[in-house]
Amino acid sequence: MSHCHLSKCDPRIESFSHFLGVTTMSLWLRCETKPFEHRSALTPTTAKALLDAGFKVSVERDEQRIFADKEYEEVGCTLVANNSWPTAPTTTTIIGLKELEQSTQPLPHTHIQFAHCYKNQAGWSAVLARFHRGGGKLYDLEFLNDATGRRVAAFGFHAGFAGAAAGALAVASHKKGETLGPLHPYENEAAMVAGVREALGGSGKGIKALVMGALGRCGRGAVDLFRKIGLDEDDILKWDLAETAKGGPFDEILDVDIFVNCIYLNSSIPPFLTRDHIVAAGKQRRLAVVVDVSCDTTNPFNPIPIYSINTTFPEPTVPVDIGSDCPRLSVISIDHLPTLLPREASEQFSHDLLPSLLEFPNSRVWTDAEALYRTKVAAAAEAEGL
Ligand SMILES: NC(=O)c1ccc[n+]([C@@H]2O[C@H](COP(=O)([O-])OP(=O)(O)OC[C@H]3O[C@@H](n4cnc5c(N)ncnc54)[C@H](O)[C@@H]3O)[C@@H](O)[C@H]2O)c1
Repeated sequence: MSHCHLSKCDPRIESFSHFLGVTTMSLWLRCETKPFEHRSALTPTTAKALLDAGFKVSVERDEQRIFADKEYEEVGCTLVANNSWPTAPTTTTIIGLKELEQSTQPLPHTHIQFAHCYKNQAGWSAVLARFHRGGGKLYDLEFLNDATGRRVAAFGFHAGFAGAAAGALAVASHKKGETLGPLHPYENEAAMVAGVREALGGSGKGIKALVMGALGRCGRGAVDLFRKIGLDEDDILKWDLAETAKGGPFDEILDVDIFVNCIYLNSSIPPFLTRDHIVAAGKQRRLAVVVDVSCDTTNPFNPIPIYSINTTFPEPTVPVDIGSDCPRLSVISIDHLPTLLPREASEQFSHDLLPSLLEFPNSRVWTDAEALYRTKVAAAAEAEGL
């Protein structure tokens, strides 16, 4: 009796499927090239689920990724050279997280990624023009929505979790009269919780925090971190639309140690905090650290108009200019917080994306995203005079 020696990754399977009229969907996980980016759109767990469902999954070798190459190899993925996706067959869909490196090279592949070019961001039309010229296609992860209009996958929870941790670390530094030093990604959530507890002398008990947008993804993550580092439940104030309906600025925010803003801003609202309001509180103010997870830094409706830059992992805080008569106040406004927890953030995001990936490219999620892409690429072609 003869045995079949074909593996699922064998190219002959693909040709045979074509012969039968069945198309094997091929995904190619590219490396991330942004500094400090350790997250991944596919994890060994989700890659295995895709392989089990009949997908072909190629994975670029990548030292930067939090998951080791061999973790993908062990579940049956085909390992390919780092940053080699431009040479992939054009029938292969390239999946990644962050923007591609800047170039004018035409893009003939279908890409699934965050491209940050649908809201007229700087350089938006040049990015889309590459797809137009190459005949490729973009499915932007930010615009994959379920039937109710909610994102199918987002990094919010771990942004809130990591933002709250950074806030607690900044409070620990404040208490010593110091400024918080550089932040580095943690191996996992438990290591982050242990690190924050240690900085606070064992527990966060006694610290008071207010989480704004507490019912959302980021807000739930921030509340979870505060619980895990030992804050009393009564010391975690959870505010959402109901509590802010009366209109700010709010004295309650001045009366906690850490304020974490996690709202999704989509219209003009009265500010939550203002510089005058903070100065008026004088020496009585308890508030020491503001973590603006929402990071609507340059948005004209920013409800926390007390700072104007995004802070970074090397320099996580910026002081608020409120004069020397008032106690210190620092802002953390890092716009890629989930990078501090690359393993869990990737696991959660990829797990949430998986049901849609298994239906790729035929379900409504993808056809809607393609229709949006068509509109955007047409606008870009016009803007670029193509
Ligand atoms: N800094 C980062 O690294 C990072 C990462 C991911 C997401 N984000 C940002 O965080 C923000 C929140 O994302 P999300 O996924 O948690 O959104 P979400 O929609 O899940 O949650 C937002 C919450 O804010 C509440 N909210 C809206 N307006 C409010 C108001 N005026 N007063 C009180 N509550 C209000 C909503 O009711 C909701 O519960 C977004 O702007 C997103 O871009 C930042």
